[in-house]
Amino acid sequence: MSGRASRIASLFAGLCAASLAGCAGPQSVFSPASDQARWLHGLFGLMLWVCGIAYLLVLAFLAVALWRARGALAETPITEPHDGRLQWGLRAWAALIVAGLLTLAVASFLVDRALAGAEPRGDPSVRVTGQQWWWRIEVKDPASGRWVESANELHLPLNQPTPVEVVSADVIHSFWIPNLSGKIDMVPGRVNRLTITPRQLGWVRGQCAEFCGLQHAQMALDVKVDSPADYAAWVARQAAPAAAPKDPVAARGLALVQDGTCGQCHALRGTAAAARAAPDLTHIAGRRFLAAGAAPLTRGSLQGWIAQPQALKPGAEMPATGLSPRDAEAVAHYLEGLT
Ligand code: CUA
Repeated sequence: MSGRASRIASLFAGLCAASLAGCAGPQSVFSPASDQARWLHGLFGLMLWVCGIAYLLVLAFLAVALWRARGALAETPITEPHDGRLQWGLRAWAALIVAGLLTLAVASFLVDRALAGAEPRGDPSVRVTGQQWWWRIEVKDPASGRWVESANELHLPLNQPTPVEVVSADVIHSFWIPNLSGKIDMVPGRVNRLTITPRQLGWVRGQCAEFCGLQHAQMALDVKVDSPADYAAWVARQAAPAAAPKDPVAARGLALVQDGTCGQCHALRGTAAAARAAPDLTHIAGRRFLAAGAAPLTRGSLQGWIAQPQALKPGAEMPATGLSPRDAEAVAHYLEGLT
């Protein structure tokens, strides 16, 4: 490549990188952090280049045609009927289009086969259920072979192909963690599967990608890729029962949860609250967010949520608890200890 051409190419590459750098982040297909996301990102890049070049060529030919036709040559044909150069050009153009389309077809076939081939033979170890408007998370505890439940925060082990089963409990949702995988619908009555092989440690963010009602926008999934040791520790922590209340205020909070309305929908393993209609609260204080990403989990947001859930997430299934401010404070204090 000549010096000028290489300078133009590197300028173009730099512009592309700069414009896409603004799109990177914890919820972006431009920061692929798993094998599957990298394959899809590569396919997207190829499609962008092939279609972009074809588009620029068409514009260039159009510009040349308009330039040559300047000065109104309506009566005079621009080319003779048997112009050899024109016929050669048209054949080359047709060949270029066929080659471009063939490249895209073969590449998308190969990526599709790679995604299908990544399906491990074993049983799923993670199950995610979409609900209006939160995520039920179940992971298999290798120690006991039992499924352990959590909500709205998913952990995955680094470098391990993890089979994930996705289902829905009510309407159609869509499971989408842009940095880790493509979208897959969560359809009532149907079990869909995908595999994620994370290659980068850290937090990323998922989002329901199918309109599912009033709070569709506030249906976020916090996702952490852990080292295998940290992942095992997280699973063990989730499998443990709820921590006992540390002081009298927390004990009063627990009593209110068990005997009041909270326990009619939520489960706190190790206590009398064992309902499964709403998110499992056994280790709620170990999560970063409340109500599927609606607010960071703090004492203030917990107390506000307990007092007036409809103010934070209108339409959510959780009704106002009717607790007095003092009681709401005791419940929040107890929940805060459940790491
Ligand atoms: Cu669930 Cu949108």
